[in-house]
Amino acid sequence: MIDYRERPEVRNEQLEELLGGPYDYLQVLARSLTWIGAFDDDRLIGYANIAWDGGVHAFLLDPTVHPDYRHRGIGTELVKEALAATARVPEIEWMHVDSDEALMRDFYEPAGFRPTPAGLVRMDELR
Ligand SMILES: CC(C)(COP(=O)(O)OP(=O)(O)OC[C@H]1O[C@@H](n2cnc3c(N)ncnc32)[C@H](O)[C@@H]1OP(=O)(O)O)[C@@H](O)C(=O)NCCC(=O)NCCS
Repeated sequence: MIDYRERPEVRNEQLEELLGGPYDYLQVLARSLTWIGAFDDDRLIGYANIAWDGGVHAFLLDPTVHPDYRHRGIGTELVKEALAATARVPEIEWMHVDSDEALMRDFYEPAGFRPTPAGLVRMDELR
């Protein structure tokens, strides 16, 4: 039974196991609107982060499911929980996500997103 929790307390090692590291994910969460964790008992097996500009825009970042748990609907549930949590903040008007075409068509669109052109610049190219 997978349990979805909003803003759960998580340790950096749990996030590093899921997302890779070493990296200080807690400094990322410190700036987040909120985040969703998917747990198998107390093991963090899925995660999605929601960033916010403080105005009308929220950003869904890093939705990730542990490889052993993929293709069971957990990713989709994480996205839906992230959308629901964001919808509870009245001033937010838009949730954005970046994706490749296949993931947009097969994963994000069924979860409620519509595709838009998006842009990206790697900051290393400017340094
Ligand atoms: C993307 C990810 C979160 C999906 O998690 P999941 O739990 O497997 O998702 P679901 O089971 O809800 O998938 C539902 C459907 O979305 C589609 N889908 C899932 N992963 C996909 C992928 N990597 N590419 C294209 N379509 C995908 C499939 O149609 C899938 O249905 P199926 O299981 O019948 O094939 C997971 O593959 C992951 O962690 N990937 C690595 C991190 C990543 O790329 N995150 C997205 C950043 S934009």
